[in-house]
Amino acid sequence: MNDIEVRSVSELIPISDREFRLLTDLIYQRFGINLDDQKRSLVVGRLNKVLRKLGFTNFQDYHHYLMTDKTGEAQDTLINRISTNHTFFWREHDHFELLRDKVLPEVTQFLKSTNRRDLKIWCPGCSSGEEPYMLAMLAAEHFGKELGMWDVGILATDISACVLNRATEAVYSEENVSHLPIIYKRKYMLKQPDHTWRVSDKIRKMVMFRRLNLMRDSYPFKKKFRLIFCRNVMIYFDRETREALVGRFSQYMEEDGYLFIGHSESLSRTNSYYKYVQPAVYQKQRKGELVK
Ligand SMILES: C[S@@+](CC[C@H](N)C(=O)[O-])C[C@H]1O[C@@H](n2cnc3c(N)ncnc32)[C@H](O)[C@@H]1O
Repeated sequence: MNDIEVRSVSELIPISDREFRLLTDLIYQRFGINLDDQKRSLVVGRLNKVLRKLGFTNFQDYHHYLMTDKTGEAQDTLINRISTNHTFFWREHDHFELLRDKVLPEVTQFLKSTNRRDLKIWCPGCSSGEEPYMLAMLAAEHFGKELGMWDVGILATDISACVLNRATEAVYSEENVSHLPIIYKRKYMLKQPDHTWRVSDKIRKMVMFRRLNLMRDSYPFKKKFRLIFCRNVMIYFDRETREALVGRFSQYMEEDGYLFIGHSESLSRTNSYYKYVQPAVYQKQRKGELVK
């Protein structure tokens, strides 16, 4: 028994200090993800299988492959392995309650007063789709029979193709929906014979999934968003990256639009784009209010 354990540990391809720095620099530059020395065993653990599959015996050769690959395949596999995709329905639910009780009624009233019927929501770092589907369920509940009279568009983006495939499939485990209030489960989820849960077609149609790296200098959007849900994504970025990203978010957001971030994240006090509403919720400043 002991023999087997010792062998499986020694089978791991080790990473030198230099190799670790090369790899984490590449990950930081391409994806913004900041991995410090404490993440060393995580990196080795997550990437060992990839190295073996590709026939590499050390991280230096793997790094060279990442630097020279032109197909994009090397980078895709890397981010699929390295990103943390944990999420579930009704996560950090006080945000959804605020949306239901305050934000959606307020936004709807404003849009009506300006003869607009478009509600654009962006969910960057959407992982396997639970969060944007949650937003679609809340919008469906809010608009009720009038949903068809509104142009509700939810764009959900992520860097990882792997999670986006899962999001498009829209099938979830019992555990993943365990916190979802019964009202949403009954109306918008279908229990399958194998005990998994499938999101209803009505809700699926409201969400569009696309691949997008948040590290781009600009994004290919024609219209601005009224709500942005970027939760538990910036936690992996350093301060500089976070601040630049928040600045970009504001460029693609309507005045008075709401930005939701994860509860373990916060905007810097010097940020001049958003004002604080409540923990992990901010509202875009109007032009005249900008403090530069
Ligand atoms: C922990 S999940 C957050 C899921 C969901 N927003 C939530 O709060 O439950 C973080 C997601 O951010 C994505 N991500 C990390 N770096 C990214 C980048 N540079 N561009 C786009 N997405 C990124 C990851 O692929 C991962 O799916």
